[in-house]
Amino acid sequence: MNFTGLVPHVVEALCGQGIGDRRDRAQVTGVWCAGALPRGCAAVLQRTHRLRLARFPVHPLAKRLRDDHRHLLRVLAVLEAQLEALGRAEDVDFDLMLDAMTYITEFPNRLHHPVEDVLFEQLADRDASAATVCREQIAEHERLFHDSAAFYGLLEAIQMDEATLTREQLVTDGRAFIEAQRAHLAREEAKLLPMAEQALDTADWDRAALTAGEVDDPLDATSRPARYEALYRALSRLPA
Ligand SMILES: [Fe+2]
Ligand SMILES: [Fe+2]
Repeated sequence: MNFTGLVPHVVEALCGQGIGDRRDRAQVTGVWCAGALPRGCAAVLQRTHRLRLARFPVHPLAKRLRDDHRHLLRVLAVLEAQLEALGRAEDVDFDLMLDAMTYITEFPNRLHHPVEDVLFEQLADRDASAATVCREQIAEHERLFHDSAAFYGLLEAIQMDEATLTREQLVTDGRAFIEAQRAHLAREEAKLLPMAEQALDTADWDRAALTAGEVDDPLDATSRPARYEALYRALSRLPA
């Protein structure tokens, strides 16, 4: 028996509780997801039937967080390309790097990290085995914001010829900065979001989503702020 083969009343019997309106959702999609099940059911079903849980986002917030990550990774790729060019002593576009850093500094701090903080706090409360990694990830949000602001300052100082560090040092620092950002995102994609999808129910995701407010991602918006024009052009040159 596989996960998709379970009919709702069997799931209810195995879980020992009703699944209410989740029944309709699962029947529409044809796939049972951890997030579509009452708390604890996913673990029961996995244990009793060695079920593979569907890994597609079941809540719009999960999709949004993954979209944010994809945007951030693309902006990091723009920054990295400029830094590598700088490392080869080629001409680089400092304004473009500063635009990328403005995005990397401001957007996650205002709109992405606050939501994840609520989500990961709930996950830590719900699943003791996830508590340490959740709390470390939350603490890292603060660190990433300060590191982003600091690296922005370095770029600006180099551009104005006011920096005491060399361009080589800037490239080295920039690579470390990008690596830390990517490691943070990879941890969430590979570990924390799947754990949250497994352990948290729709009400938990809704609670985190309430923190989100209106999405104002300039890479998502239909009206694209003119100030990011150079960044948009650079992003359009990246492979899809
Ligand atoms: Fe994060
Ligand atoms: Fe994230």
